[in-house]
This record gives sequence, C-alpha cells and structure tokens, in this order.
Amino acid sequence: HGIRLKGKADVEVIRKAGRLAVETLDLVESHIRPGIRTEEINTLVHEFTIQKGAVPAPLHYRGFPKSVCVSVNEEICHGIPGERILKEGDIVNVDITPILDGYYADASKTFFVGPPGPEALNLVRVARNSLWAGMGMVRPGNTIGDIGYAIQTYAEGEGCSVVREFVGHGVGFEFHEAPQVPHYGQKGKGIPLVPGMVFTIEPMINAGKKDLQILSDNWTAVTKDGFSSAQFEQTILVTEEGFESLTPFDLDGPLMP
Ligand code: MF3
Ligand code: CO
Ligand code: CO
Repeated sequence: HGIRLKGKADVEVIRKAGRLAVETLDLVESHIRPGIRTEEINTLVHEFTIQKGAVPAPLHYRGFPKSVCVSVNEEICHGIPGERILKEGDIVNVDITPILDGYYADASKTFFVGPPGPEALNLVRVARNSLWAGMGMVRPGNTIGDIGYAIQTYAEGEGCSVVREFVGHGVGFEFHEAPQVPHYGQKGKGIPLVPGMVFTIEPMINAGKKDLQILSDNWTAVTKDGFSSAQFEQTILVTEEGFESLTPFDLDGPLMP
C-alpha cells in the first residue's frame, strides 16, 4: 500500500517540525481577536515560519496561494486567507504545515473569536474530543478503520456529522502520503497499524449535515447547509507502546483560556 515507514532519525526531524507547528499555533492564538483580517494570520504564520528557518508547505502547493489555511464558521477547510474580518462569536480553524530540514509536520486548531455562544462551544468541544477519540485507537495491531469508527461513533453520538471528502494522511517525507485515514469507518477494517507509521488525524466535524461544496476559488470547502464546522489535527507516530503525537498540544484541558 505504499506506506513509507519513518526511522528514528526521520522522527527526530518531524518532531522538530511539529514543535514549530505548535509554537506557530500558539503565536496565532495570541493574535486572534474580533476585527482582524484573516490575511493578518497569513502574514504572521508566513513570517514566523521563515524566521525559524522553515518553509510554509501550503504556499504554492497545487496552486494554493497562501502560507496557511484559515477556515471560519461554515468553512470546513482550505480557506484562503484574505479580506474576511473575524467577528465576536466566530470560530476559526488555522491549519499549519511547516517544512523543516525537508520534513513536514501538520497540525491545526479551532479558536474562538471572543466569547463563544453555546453552539460554537459545543461544536468545538466535539471536534476536539473527536481527535482525542481517534488518537486513543492508535497502537500496533489496531487498524485504520478502528480510528474512523471511534471518531464517527463519538461525533454522531453527540449529534454532529463527519465530513467524508477529506481525510487524514501519511505525512513527513511529503505533505500528503499513504495511507489515507478516514474519520469514519468500521472496526477492524483497513490497514493494520505498525510502529514507524506517521499520519495525521484531522476530523472535520459539522454541527449540521455532512455535505459540502467547494467555492469558486476552487479551494474553500463549506458546509452545504451553512452550519459551522470545526477541526483539530495532529501528526501521530505509531510506537511499540501505542502512539506519540509529534505535534503535541493539549486536548483535555479547559476549552477556553
Ligand atoms: N493542511 C491541510 C491538511 O491537513 C492541507 C492543506 S492543502 C493546502 O491536509 F494547499 F490548502 F494548503
Ligand atoms: Co493534514
Ligand atoms: Co493540516
């Protein structure tokens, strides 16, 4: 199935790239407030990445025009930073992928813009717990299907829906490698997990129905029904014991600072 396992030396560099991704998310979080344009997040991420000796993988990737994906409310993923102004009550996903010394790490978080309403708070809670539920299935002998099953049963049990068109992916040597990691599926199905695999888990969770459409910019995926979508992503290494996140950030602390 074309999965390229990572050795100890590979993992060390991906871990460094991953720490930079998380540091960048922290920097972005400190700048999120009502009134900023999403373009300002792009400038921040671009300059910080370069300053750290890394390259922002999204820039010119398959023609993507910016250095980071910024997706607000009904935008599911691949939002292009620009003139949209964040307002109080919005949620915004920021998806960061630095290339450091030739290695990729991929991570994203959804932030609140000012104090959230109850629906935004619940959706972001479910999205964060969905990533946690998926990660909890990662250990040798479990399968890719076990990850998707855990996420789907949890998220749907909370009355949310799971996007099908975009999936987690192998990462490290390139931006998107084998295997694909769907956030839905069946227990015990799919490829068995083996130590040295590195892939993302990045469930996109919708408050309404799962259906999406792509805007005329050919990138931005939005919910068909206009309800909000939230996402958290980490880059995960399969270890002998279970897993290690190479982009570690807190998934069980308080949702609001
Ligand atoms: N970071 C996204 C992912 O998690 C991919 C973005 S592709 C881009 O896989 F071109 F939009 F940057
Ligand atoms: Co990804
Ligand atoms: Co990503």
